[in-house]
Amino acid sequence: MPYTANAERYEKMPYYRCGKSGLKLPGVSLGLWHNFGGVDAYENGRALVRQAFNLGITHFDLANNYGPPPGSAEETFGKILQSDFMPYRDEIVISTKAGYTMWEGPYGDWGSKKYLVSSLDQSLKRMGLDYVDIFYHHRPDPETPLEETMSALDLIVRQGKALYIGLSNYKPDQTKRAVDILRSLGTPCVIHQMKYSMLFREPENGLFDLLQQEGVGSIAFSPLSKGLLTDRYFKGIPLDSRAAGTSKFLREQDVSAEIVNKSLQLDQIAKERGQTLAQMAISWVLREGKATSALIGASNTSQIDDAAAALNGPAFTEEELRRIDQILNVRKP
Ligand SMILES: NC(=O)c1ccc[n+]([C@@H]2O[C@H](COP(=O)([O-])OP(=O)(O)OC[C@H]3O[C@@H](n4cnc5c(N)ncnc54)[C@H](OP(=O)(O)O)[C@@H]3O)[C@@H](O)[C@H]2O)c1
Repeated sequence: MPYTANAERYEKMPYYRCGKSGLKLPGVSLGLWHNFGGVDAYENGRALVRQAFNLGITHFDLANNYGPPPGSAEETFGKILQSDFMPYRDEIVISTKAGYTMWEGPYGDWGSKKYLVSSLDQSLKRMGLDYVDIFYHHRPDPETPLEETMSALDLIVRQGKALYIGLSNYKPDQTKRAVDILRSLGTPCVIHQMKYSMLFREPENGLFDLLQQEGVGSIAFSPLSKGLLTDRYFKGIPLDSRAAGTSKFLREQDVSAEIVNKSLQLDQIAKERGQTLAQMAISWVLREGKATSALIGASNTSQIDDAAAALNGPAFTEEELRRIDQILNVRKP
């Protein structure tokens, strides 16, 4: 069936300014790390992207290595774009990244100019695009001079292959140096993509403050802790869940009785707020403008419906935030 986007797609989703840039991102963005590989059902991935866009989710996040096999998520997304979304290209923010192992030999990994430029060329080809909206360096490279990596990002923008530049998984001191170099080159860093959730608080130790000072936006990846901060595992490990699958990053043993117990307690607070646990987890990363956007994954369209509805939730009370920290044993200084 040909796709026509929902005419009401912009009525409910809020869009937040990304740092001090001109770019706005939806409160919820969709990542294609899982469920879009060559091994996954194409029509399911297509339904996820359609449903997301219908709900005002205008930002889709990829990386060169998403699959499996690596590269296949970009191919799947390219196919979805070409069949359904080219009329909407200017309404969509597409990001991709390079920084992890992508091809054999010395030029298929880390942060050299050689790797970043050729990787983005490959990504554009796989997606059938002339440019991406955001190109990220996916992780810091301990060996390549930061000046070289940043000048490769600057070059990519000057070549018109990306509109904006982002960093991912950089620590605060590395971020500060990179942001300074990019600014001196005239291509500001617009966004930092970091792991952040109720279960993983590291960005609160300096990174958020730095981004605020530098006027850089932020997008929180895995805000649902890959499904642990949802009701997915309340009654065991479903066969179609990520933990039951082949992901190295969420194994059955990660779904411990302790974590499920904590999630059940958090779910009680979510219910009192009139939210699902997944919705509360999304509202939490966005509270007080901490993150510009919550970058979720989804395996079915109802999860996207659930996430989009999170943005109508109430603000957190001090008491709710204190109870969440208490359940998770987080001690504030
Ligand atoms: N920059 C980086 O280094 C980096 C690293 C990791 C991820 N990312 C980005 O972040 C994106 C999101 O990561 P993620 O997939 O780990 O995020 P996540 O949102 O924490 O987890 C998504 C998983 O949670 C479950 N889920 C989602 N909504 C649900 C709901 N409403 N109710 C119950 N379960 C729900 C689904 O698991 P089931 O599959 O079990 O249904 C879904 O696949 C990635 O796609 C990628 O774009 C970036």
